[in-house]
Amino acid sequence: MEQAAFIVEHLEKDLLSWSVLEYKHIRSMTKSVLFTNITKNAKKMAGLPINQESVLQVNPENACILDPNATMPLDASEKFHTYIIGGILGDSEPQQRTRQLLTEKLGLPYRNLGPAQLTTDTAVLAVKKVLAGTPVDKLEFRNGIAIEVAGETVILPNSYLVEDDKPILTPGISDLLKRQKGMSFA
Ligand SMILES: C[S@@+](CC[C@H](N)C(=O)[O-])C[C@H]1O[C@@H](n2cnc3c(N)ncnc32)[C@H](O)[C@@H]1O
Repeated sequence: MEQAAFIVEHLEKDLLSWSVLEYKHIRSMTKSVLFTNITKNAKKMAGLPINQESVLQVNPENACILDPNATMPLDASEKFHTYIIGGILGDSEPQQRTRQLLTEKLGLPYRNLGPAQLTTDTAVLAVKKVLAGTPVDKLEFRNGIAIEVAGETVILPNSYLVEDDKPILTPGISDLLKRQKGMSFA
């Protein structure tokens, strides 16, 4: 089977460590990924395939946008070549940036991965699972995941895929939160 290609369009104003961890996680899942619209702090992305240009300039053919606002779920039988995902950190109140910044500008087909707001790395993993044969409505997600950081409970804002009853979290996220908490007391 031909490997699906991913484009992750960075859409945050800054390139925060949280995004970089998600992007490294994505790269560990697939060699076929390009991170676009990386306009500053590119050195944080050392070793990752980046492009300064936006996907709006690249304008790939036979591509599909993953957009939580889409009414149609992704279906493996459609066989798109490229899957475009927003490099967006979750909002407590989703701001529909995927729709405004990608779907409305690119004019490509767009599909959902269920009703939950997923992290960018979880969205890539969910696409891979759908293409491997799991329908969107059979994907198992969990939200409100609590992790302990220096004696306090932090609730992660998005939903994550679950495998063998364990959420698949972004590697390094717990250490990042610990470091950030340490800094706030420095
Ligand atoms: C944290 S989400 C961003 C959600 C953002 N608050 C918004 O309003 O678009 C990051 C990316 O993952 C993908 N994504 C997350 N949840 C999804 C879903 N349920 N269906 C389709 N794509 C999703 C989208 O490509 C989205 O841009």
